[in-house]
Parts: sequence; structure tokens; C-alpha cells
Amino acid sequence: MGRLDGKIAIVTGAASGIGEATARTFAREGARVTLTDVQDAKGETVAREIGGVYTHQDVSQEPQWTALIEDVLRREGRLDILVNNAGVFMGATIEDTELELWNRVIAVNLTGVMLGCKHAVRAMKTNPGGPKGSIVNISSITGYIGLANGAAYTASKGGVRLLTKSVAVHCARQYKTIRCNSVHPGAIDTPMNQAAFDASGNPDEMRAFFSSLQPIGRMTTSQEIADACLYLASDESSSVTGAEVLVDGGWLAASGPI
Ligand SMILES: NC(=O)c1ccc[n+]([C@@H]2O[C@H](COP(=O)([O-])OP(=O)(O)OC[C@H]3O[C@@H](n4cnc5c(N)ncnc54)[C@H](O)[C@@H]3O)[C@@H](O)[C@H]2O)c1
Repeated sequence: MGRLDGKIAIVTGAASGIGEATARTFAREGARVTLTDVQDAKGETVAREIGGVYTHQDVSQEPQWTALIEDVLRREGRLDILVNNAGVFMGATIEDTELELWNRVIAVNLTGVMLGCKHAVRAMKTNPGGPKGSIVNISSITGYIGLANGAAYTASKGGVRLLTKSVAVHCARQYKTIRCNSVHPGAIDTPMNQAAFDASGNPDEMRAFFSSLQPIGRMTTSQEIADACLYLASDESSSVTGAEVLVDGGWLAASGPI
């Protein structure tokens, strides 16, 4: 028996990295998954491999959320799980942050999550059998600490951390069984990070540096983030809402690299 048997899930940014691992894990555990992304070819391939449905979606655009949720409700009749995973990183210190960069990062990483929560709650409260659902928002270790070369990114992830609590409290008071939690990855071994390492000219040194940030001595895998999402998406976490799940190999617990 799967831990998500019969559940209807949406995972955004599911074409690669953490979103892909989460979509694969959810499907393996019995969920019917709708995958969304802006990388259509990759998203369609993953969806085909796991028996899911792929939909093109820019999470920063509200009409695309309306259309997505309508489509899922038409096909599946309910929505049980949303993982707001899609995100972008654009490096810039506060001195170098152009308004265009700021607006783009906030639009995808924070406004996209807000829109997802808004439309998912509206759907989950009408589920047959009564209101029920679980929303998982992917924040970051930068929801707690500042990244000098990521002013907009840090602001967006801090916003996701507290937005999650507002959604959680509203849903708990109004509907009792609709939950919302955030997951905070540390240094994750994703294709995106590997590409950045490769581009640096010294991939081994970069990998060693990122590994040294986490006291466990290695980077965290996408699967380890997917497993945290699985717990929060499943009924095993039925009393967990407004919580922050830090998956950072001990990074934040340490006062420096050890
Ligand atoms: N990789 C890390 O070290 C790390 C650490 C902390 C937090 N995170 C967060 O985890 C999440 C997933 O990141 P990842 O590392 O798997 O990166 P990734 O680049 O592999 O995945 C992000 C996905 O989001 C998609 N996407 C980008 N803009 C979009 C948009 N407007 N609409 C829909 N989809 C869009 C991308 O096409 C991509 O497939 C992000 O929110 C990221 O900020 C990652």
C-alpha cells in the first residue's frame, strides 16, 4: 500500500531537480500527479515515465493557476496535495539588484507560491467528503539566513516561510483539515547546481565547498527533500501545520563549517 494511495497531487517545477524527485516519489506512493513547469520537453518526459499528466504553467501568472486547477478538478474531481516547488535563483547583492531582477525573482518564488496557495485552498475546501488537503511550500535555508549574493532570493524565501504560516492558521481555523507547511533545503545536489559547478571552472572545489557547509559532510539529495515532502503530503502529518521542516544536513545548527 502506498502512503499517498488515491490522492490527487500537483507539483510545480516538476521537470527537474527537487520537483522531479517529488513527482516521482508521489507517483510511486500511489498519488495521481499533475506536473507543471516551463520546460515542456523535460516535463512531458517525466510525466510519461511516471504515468502523470504534464501541463505548461508559469506559476507567476494567475490565469494559468485558474486554468490548471479547473483542469485538475475536471479530470480528477478533487485536489489533495499541492507542492509549490518552482523557483528561480538570480544572484545579485543588494547593491547590484536591478528592479527587473527583483520583480522576476519575487514573481516566481513568492507571488507564484501565494497564487498556488490561494487557488489550492479554494479547491481543497470543496473536496467531496469535506475540506481536506496539504500544501507544501519549498522555501530554503535562506528563509532563515541571508545570502549576500542573493538579496531578492533571500527575501522571496523568507516571504514563503511566513506566508506559509498565514495560510496554515487561516486554513486551520476555517477548515481544520487543510494544512500548509514549508520545507527548507540546504545545499542540494541538483542538476542546476552541478551546472553551476561545471561553469565555475573548478567543479570539484565547488562541490567540496558546498559539502563543507553541511556538517554531515555532503550535499543533500533531491530524494531527501522529496521524502520530507512525502511526509507532509501524507496523512502521517495530519497534526502538522504551519511548520518549517529544515533539511540542511545540520548547516543551520552549526556556528560555522565543521
Ligand atoms: N538546489 C538547491 O540547493 C536549493 C536550495 C534551497 C532551495 N531550493 C529551492 O528548491 C526549489 C527547486 O529547485 P531545484 O534546485 O530543484 O532547481 P531546478 O532549477 O532544477 O528546478 C526548478 C524548476 O522550476 C521551473 N521553473 C522556473 N521558473 C518557473 C515558472 N515561472 N513557472 C513554472 N516553473 C518554473 C524550472 O524550469 C525548473 O524545472 C526552488 O524553489 C529552489 O529555490 C533549492
